[in-house]
Amino acid sequence: MKKSASAFDALRSARLSLLAVVSLLGWAVGVQGGGIIGINYGTMANNLPPPYQVAKFLLQKTFIKHVKLFDADPNILRAFADTGISFTVTIANDRIPALANHSNAQQWITSNILPYIPTTNITRILVGNEVIATADKSLIAGLVPAMQSLYAALVIASLSHQIQVSTPHSLGILSSSDPPSTGKFRRGYDTVVLKPLLGFLKATGSPFMINSYPFFGYTSSTLDYALFRPNAGVFDENTKLTYTNMLDGQLDAVYTAMKLLNYSDVEIVIAETGWPSHGDPGQIGVDPESAAAYNKNLIQHVTSGVGHTIDAK
Ligand SMILES: *[C@@H]1O[C@H](CO)[C@@H](O)[C@H](O)[C@H]1NC(C)=O
Ligand SMILES: *[C@@H]1O[C@H](CO)[C@@H](O)[C@H](O)[C@H]1NC(C)=O
Ligand SMILES: *[C@@H]1O[C@H](CO)[C@@H](O)[C@H](O)[C@H]1NC(C)=O
Repeated sequence: MKKSASAFDALRSARLSLLAVVSLLGWAVGVQGGGIIGINYGTMANNLPPPYQVAKFLLQKTFIKHVKLFDADPNILRAFADTGISFTVTIANDRIPALANHSNAQQWITSNILPYIPTTNITRILVGNEVIATADKSLIAGLVPAMQSLYAALVIASLSHQIQVSTPHSLGILSSSDPPSTGKFRRGYDTVVLKPLLGFLKATGSPFMINSYPFFGYTSSTLDYALFRPNAGVFDENTKLTYTNMLDGQLDAVYTAMKLLNYSDVEIVIAETGWPSHGDPGQIGVDPESAAAYNKNLIQHVTSGVGHTIDAK
């Protein structure tokens, strides 16, 4: 079955309007290593509740202790002061080339982080989003230098032990992922960007982050596998492992690719995942029930701690 553009758009907008529907368990759920669930707090939607209400809601009505922003919105960061909730902030892709410059990186930390800590618990800075997927040479070339400059600025501010620097990738960075034991990064990006990036992450104790959407990989015959519902599983001949859900398969494909570059010891964290609740009429598996099943089963799976390599750390 082909994924249509409108289903893709629905996924994007569902992801961005998360906080409007967080009471339904969240449509986009960020997962952090070691079985922790967080949410992506998007602000591109109408009728969003004000940040202080969101903070109150999360504290009083949910178990969510981790929030990821697609920017570093001062109003949100202020609204979450003294909540202890840990924040991941994101720097826009177009800022990357400038931030390779050390004084610009220091300025960015001074303006966007220092005013809000320690009252707001900022614990991670993401430099861009799916930068490799942009195929923009200047962004890709600037990515690791920008991360290094920001890290250096955190060291100067004595914050490098409490704030990590990373960047999320789409699964498009893999040239092979099925079965998971054949996972491999695309040639050209593997040694030029991903190897230095993994070296940086390992040296600084930061995770490799991915946006993982089984939605983009399922067919009508693998819907249950994608939604963590009971299914026959997928057997990997090479490792003799049977996968019971697509997300684990995607994570292991990333793990295998990292291992090829000798960085199997860097933790993998999912920055985004989710499932659209509406798409083309008649499209199998794109409805509110499927979206709810994905989120519910995902949370159950992640918090159960069961998995092949996710918890290897
Ligand atoms: C900030 O978040 C981190 C990670 O969740 C947590 O370990 C730490 O205790 C939090 N800090 C405060 C002051 O709540
Ligand atoms: C970095 O940027 C500053 C001001 O933004 C500029 O003065 C300096 O020359 C730049 N450094 C490099 C190495 O480009
Ligand atoms: C990984 O390590 C092995 C064994 O030390 C080495 O042969 C191989 O060249 C390394 N691969 C990369 C991509 O560095």
